[in-house]
Amino acid sequence: MTKPREIKAALLGATGAVGQRYINMLPKHPYLRLEVLMGGESAGKKYGQAVHWLFPDAMDPAMAQKVVRQAKPESAKGCDIVFSALPSEVAAEVETKFAQAGFIVVSEASVHRMDADVPLMIPEINADHLKLLESQKKKRGWKGAIATTPNCTATGLSMVLKPLIDEFGARKAIVTTMQALSGAGFPGVPSLSIQENVIPYIKNEEEKVAAEAKKILGTYSNGGIKASPISMGISCNRVAVIDGHMETLYAEFAHGITPKAAERSLERFAGEPQRLKLPTAPDHPIIVRKENDRPQPRLDRMAGSVPGMSVVVGRVRNGIDGKSLQLTLLSHNTIRGAAGTAILTAELMEREGYLEN
Ligand SMILES: NC(=O)c1ccc[n+]([C@@H]2O[C@H](COP(=O)([O-])OP(=O)(O)OC[C@H]3O[C@@H](n4cnc5c(N)ncnc54)[C@H](OP(=O)(O)O)[C@@H]3O)[C@@H](O)[C@H]2O)c1
Repeated sequence: MTKPREIKAALLGATGAVGQRYINMLPKHPYLRLEVLMGGESAGKKYGQAVHWLFPDAMDPAMAQKVVRQAKPESAKGCDIVFSALPSEVAAEVETKFAQAGFIVVSEASVHRMDADVPLMIPEINADHLKLLESQKKKRGWKGAIATTPNCTATGLSMVLKPLIDEFGARKAIVTTMQALSGAGFPGVPSLSIQENVIPYIKNEEEKVAAEAKKILGTYSNGGIKASPISMGISCNRVAVIDGHMETLYAEFAHGITPKAAERSLERFAGEPQRLKLPTAPDHPIIVRKENDRPQPRLDRMAGSVPGMSVVVGRVRNGIDGKSLQLTLLSHNTIRGAAGTAILTAELMEREGYLEN
């Protein structure tokens, strides 16, 4: 196999909870080179001085020395791809400017996710949705384009629903979430609100999770996405966990289903990234635990061959009857739910020629 070419990357929002994941992951990447860091208040400062570093492992010294640039297309001159970890309010305008200037942007922000011509990517599920990029460029008259990755809660849920829909025809999903603090960014939820507490509301989250999952699980045809017909009810809660979103799922099916058959289907699930052996693709996108008390955020969020990229499922059992199923799932919100899926999307784009000018 020929050695992959080097891809130069730029990052918007480098100091945030998600931005820091890129800084943590990309210096070890075989061919994505993080050349340019951009931000708002941190612009003009050395990254190591501007950031409130959240991880126990040391920051890459070359990243610490980089001077954060202003969030403008000129700052990323010469880069092949721009990752964006900006807040949505800022992303709307800034990402559009980068795409107009000819950059391929992979965005974590919610603002463009539901646009009809913008792919919402989980490469294991919907690699073919990247085809929207060509029609997006034509329709908008842009030289570049925007692809997005989903809300961190929609990501784990969609990955588990995909094989259950394809193999058993899941048609209804009722979900309750227990979402980690880092999902709210840094500094996020005030400590006095969350210590010794659970907050049963996350603004706009329930609507986003349902709409995004239906788009991700939808089918590409005639230059658009037809949303999955599955119906969903979502309840979102914030809990005092640092990383790792847990969700309980109750699903209903057209026909009978056994926990064993469901577990086999979840364990077998794989997609284009596994077939292409992309560097950030875990061997098993879904790991099934058989113990009664797993998954747990502290024990399971970094599971798998690429730490943090696998969704961990447990407590698979029938629901109210033989046509329903209950389970618990866990996914790392800033890795699989954010930076990791964006990096995997970039790897898929490179393999499929979307990064060639
Ligand atoms: N946290 C998660 O688990 C998660 C998961 C999936 C998606 N997301 C999405 O990812 C995005 C980032 O989330 P986060 O949790 O990392 O947020 P965050 O911790 O609040 O970080 C926001 C980042 O955006 C930068 N920024 C803010 N205003 C700016 C401006 N006017 N111009 C340029 N840069 C600006 C900040 O840089 P300065 O410090 O330089 O101002 C900071 O680096 C959001 O859209 C969020 O919804 C988050």
